[in-house]
Amino acid sequence: MATGTQTGTTDTARGTWGSQMGFILAAAGSAVGLGHIWRFPYVTGANGGAAFVLLYIGAVFLIGVPILFAELTLGRHSNRNPVGAIKAIVGNSSWKYLGYLGVATGVFILSYYTLIAGWTFGYIFKTLLRDATTFDQFTNQGLLNAGLYMAFILMTVGVVYGGVRGGIERWSKILMPILPVLLLFIIIYSLTLPGSMAGVQFYLRPDFSSLTGQSVLVALGQAFFANSLGMGAMVTYGSYLSKDQNIITSGLGVVSFGILISFLAGFAVFPAVFAMGQSPAEGAALVFVVLPEIFNMMPGGILVGFIFFLLLSIAALTSTVSLLEVPVAFLIDEKAVRRKVAVWLMAGVTVLFGIPSALSFGAVDFFTELPLLAGLSFFDVMDYIFGNVALPLGGMMFAIFVAWRWGILNAANEIALGNRKFLGVQSAAWGFVLRYVCPVVIFVVMLNTTGVLGLIGL
Ligand code: TRP
Repeated sequence: MATGTQTGTTDTARGTWGSQMGFILAAAGSAVGLGHIWRFPYVTGANGGAAFVLLYIGAVFLIGVPILFAELTLGRHSNRNPVGAIKAIVGNSSWKYLGYLGVATGVFILSYYTLIAGWTFGYIFKTLLRDATTFDQFTNQGLLNAGLYMAFILMTVGVVYGGVRGGIERWSKILMPILPVLLLFIIIYSLTLPGSMAGVQFYLRPDFSSLTGQSVLVALGQAFFANSLGMGAMVTYGSYLSKDQNIITSGLGVVSFGILISFLAGFAVFPAVFAMGQSPAEGAALVFVVLPEIFNMMPGGILVGFIFFLLLSIAALTSTVSLLEVPVAFLIDEKAVRRKVAVWLMAGVTVLFGIPSALSFGAVDFFTELPLLAGLSFFDVMDYIFGNVALPLGGMMFAIFVAWRWGILNAANEIALGNRKFLGVQSAAWGFVLRYVCPVVIFVVMLNTTGVLGLIGL
């Protein structure tokens, strides 16, 4: 059957990817976002640089890749959203709550992810206008935050509205290849700055004494978030794959593209940070605090800054699209809601939960320091619960579901439809890692986040 034609069901309203390349670009668009370009540099900076980069790559290939294959094969086999995929295999059992967890996690992550994405969008204009307000002053303004938030969610709605082929795939095809090119431009620029070599050393020469037990766990968490794993986003994307498309090569293509983008993002950030005498361990604000300052001081910095934040907005948009697509696909498949209605409904819910997040950076005291939660902000609590707890929990459960409930053999046979060579040594290795390594390692991550929970007095 030709690529791009619907297989599995006669439900043509769902749509499929026009080509394998279209799928790879769209899935890479989901994976590559703020997680790579904003979060990866700051966690790398805070965890000592090069050694952490190696640790992260290890976590991606050992844990991320096997779970990515599991999510994709589950989605393609069932042709469904996470809830429908599970029901297609085990019927109406309590496993379906894993699907619900994924759908809910998508909505909640989207609710605060859109806020950061909105800042990124706002920083395009802030840079162009040479506006001198600090990051704190910027994030303090409730109305500005709300406006940027609405702008970003509307852009997301616009793309998801178009459906799989017309919307996500077309946009990803146009936007994704621009990313590495723009990053290269910034890298070349920052390498010409005097003092930048210290940043290159920090980033490329591993110092393993800088790693702690915590770094290992941070690397794992980043592997999850950055590859859009643990909530069924890749189940949903896999459901638009046709049977003859190759899950293994597509999956590895997506992950490799993500690592490339992360690596380039770090390369764009660290030489510049060191050249300007700034600290690489700036934390979550690294991109928003340090870079604009650098852009300000650099000749031609307005243009560099403009390109950078434009790039980050594009990357964030293809990610918010995938976060919205999960609950939308759920409503279309399970509740027979029309795509356009589903999109507006879920965008509305997102905005509802996004408002308190948007107001929790100083605009409203109550949300900035929640009275009963040790002064944490609403944003902190959302990110903690959904980013740190729900994703690893979901990922672990997806691994267990596919490996132990659906069965490695069934899953491997589905993968083999588009890749005959997978059966045998490859599927045996994959089965072992998915059965034992993934659940155990993720369980350790979960234990640690619970430990942190105790430390911060929750
Ligand atoms: N991976 C994206 C990023 O790095 C964020 C993202 C999109 C995501 N879809 C997801 C994270 C699904 C977890 C689950 O920015």
